[in-house]
Amino acid sequence: MTGGTTSDILERLRALRAGDAPTHGGRVLSYVYDSGLEELDELADAAARLARPLNGLDPTVFPSISAMERDVIAFTRRMLHGSRSVVGSVTSGGTESCLLAVKTARDLWREAHPGGGRPRLLTASTVHAAFQKAAHLFDLDWEPVPAGIDGAVRAQDLIDRMDDDVALVVVSAPAYPSGALDPVSAVAGAAADRGLSCHVDSCFGGFVLPWWPDLPAWDFRVRGVTSISADLHKFGYAPKGVSVLLHRGRRRHRAQFFATTRWAGYPVVNPTLLGSRSASPLAAGWAITQHLGSDGYAELVGSIRRIAVAVRAAVDGIPGLTVMGDPVGPAIALVADASAPHAARVDPHRLADELAGYGWKIQHQPGLVQSDGVRIPHSAHLTLTPVLEQRVGEFTDALRAASDAVRGRPQADARMLLAGMRVLGYGEGGRVPGPKAAWRLLRLAGAGSVSVDQPMSVLMALIEALPHPVAEALLTELLARLSEPR
Ligand SMILES: Cc1ncc(COP(=O)(O)O)c(C=O)c1O
Repeated sequence: MTGGTTSDILERLRALRAGDAPTHGGRVLSYVYDSGLEELDELADAAARLARPLNGLDPTVFPSISAMERDVIAFTRRMLHGSRSVVGSVTSGGTESCLLAVKTARDLWREAHPGGGRPRLLTASTVHAAFQKAAHLFDLDWEPVPAGIDGAVRAQDLIDRMDDDVALVVVSAPAYPSGALDPVSAVAGAAADRGLSCHVDSCFGGFVLPWWPDLPAWDFRVRGVTSISADLHKFGYAPKGVSVLLHRGRRRHRAQFFATTRWAGYPVVNPTLLGSRSASPLAAGWAITQHLGSDGYAELVGSIRRIAVAVRAAVDGIPGLTVMGDPVGPAIALVADASAPHAARVDPHRLADELAGYGWKIQHQPGLVQSDGVRIPHSAHLTLTPVLEQRVGEFTDALRAASDAVRGRPQADARMLLAGMRVLGYGEGGRVPGPKAAWRLLRLAGAGSVSVDQPMSVLMALIEALPHPVAEALLTELLARLSEPR
């Protein structure tokens, strides 16, 4: 062999990993889901390793895969109060579950509407972006229904837009940007009355809300809910690459599949979007659900609830800062308190940048102007994972200190940059930059390189202010350049 030694290679990887944000310990309040239980990670690693050589493409050759899937689906179905008529699949993650929910509903809609036409996908504007992606990929018109400034959508606003051309109505439990639990039963019931499909996206909260007290029913107990997604690789605490999509009824589930005997190779039957697929995330998720069981999840949800109470109490005591709406479960969005005078407000993006200096990473969410002109304010998202309970006091102290440091500083101002971009022709209704121009604009905006602790306020203000196609081209370029060989 001519390459490096195994130890050199692993050393290099360790050095690379040292530049990453910490994946454990609760200091990063998005992307990673730390139970705080070391034995879970060890169990997941061991199970993933055992399953590593398998190929999920063909469970007839590797029956261990369907055995694990059966257990995971049974666990999730029980958790979501599904009867025996509820069946489903294990997918590679939340986005794939959402994509498949939409594809399935679209195929069933097409079957029921042989005259053709283009179906709509009806959602709250706060629904996860995976549904926009699904509409884009599977040729539906996405109709986002405006939410209030509290990030909550009214059931009637969704119901008013229901018609025969709707292939799928989607509600979230809860929505990621605001933590709002959408009005599932009113919407799903109205959808059922009109013969429409209704998906509950609980990718984020699916393994939390079942143990959260005093919630209205939002799962398969609700009439009209036809499918639900729930991610094992979020609050199921499995490593990335595993989610569950459940359907009410076999017919709906089977519409998710792609099968063909019309090629020269082996017969292809794919329940999900991928062909060959790793069984490691499934094995890890399976092992964790077997180990935790319902009681284990209930205990971890207890931690999340205590953290949520502590964080909300701390925010209540911070002048100029407030929580968006009335979140349910493990998401909280922080916004400037609009009832405070400007000089006393805490801008959430300034706060997020400042907090990084204290060793905490919360997530910038740009404001969103909706079709009715109402702007969901820019905010800072917190995903609360159980491990944070060990140091929630440290976190709330940092929140207070960072708020004091930035109070009165307004949202970053991107007007100069925006004016420059307009002059270059990239304003509203203008051009969309190609790769070279996008890179030039990014450098102009000081975003030619990004690092873990870089302040994001200005870039976020720019993203919010630019026409969507221009902002999307810039972000595409930013990410694409990261993986270009130097
Ligand atoms: C509500 C919701 N749906 C879907 C997704 C997409 O999940 P994934 O990132 O696993 O593709 C997320 C991710 O945060 C989410 O919060």
